[in-house]
Amino acid sequence: MNMVEAINFVSLSSHQIEEVLFWRNHPIIQKYMRNDKEILLSEHLRFIENLSKDPSKRYFYVHENHLGVGTFNLTHIENDSAEMGIYVNPFMHGKGYGKKILDYIVNYATVELNLKTLYLEVYRDNPVAIHLYEKNKFYKYDATEDMFKMKRDLK
Ligand SMILES: CC(C)(COP(=O)(O)OP(=O)(O)OC[C@H]1O[C@@H](n2cnc3c(N)ncnc32)[C@H](O)[C@@H]1OP(=O)(O)O)[C@@H](O)C(=O)NCCC(=O)NCCS
Repeated sequence: MNMVEAINFVSLSSHQIEEVLFWRNHPIIQKYMRNDKEILLSEHLRFIENLSKDPSKRYFYVHENHLGVGTFNLTHIENDSAEMGIYVNPFMHGKGYGKKILDYIVNYATVELNLKTLYLEVYRDNPVAIHLYEKNKFYKYDATEDMFKMKRDLK
């Protein structure tokens, strides 16, 4: 079975950095992000540079056999919990990569970070993501006007 692997944003090649920015600015990704404005290369580079100084956040590029398939991030990393985010390469939606990346995140959060809970926020009008999360043991515990707050207990 093909397995996905992850590279921390702080170790990416310049080609991979540009690939991520291209995905992130694609309308079908941007639409579901909290910051839905176009991100400039200069901002993207500054963001990545600052990550190495901030232990509460980790961002990863995910590939399968060297083909970039998406990204995930863990933010608000504390002793027992973190918040997660995910997006799949906009040209590879609906091929199972969302599920593969989510499995990778759960394993990483459990084994590497020893977390007990993963949190996320998802727009109410994002049924594909909500379906993916609910099918993988996340449940809604709160809501705002436009978002659901979900979590998964890891242990
Ligand atoms: C949400 C997202 C991560 C899902 O990744 P994906 O690779 O497209 O999804 P998968 O192929 O792993 O499929 C996951 C489930 O969603 C279903 N699904 C995928 N695309 C679908 C679509 N267009 N319509 C309906 N269901 C769909 C799959 O059938 C699967 O469900 P199943 O296991 O019951 O068959 C991806 O679509 C994405 O990056 N969206 C934009 C960014 C985003 O919304 N991120 C989440 C923010 S909280």
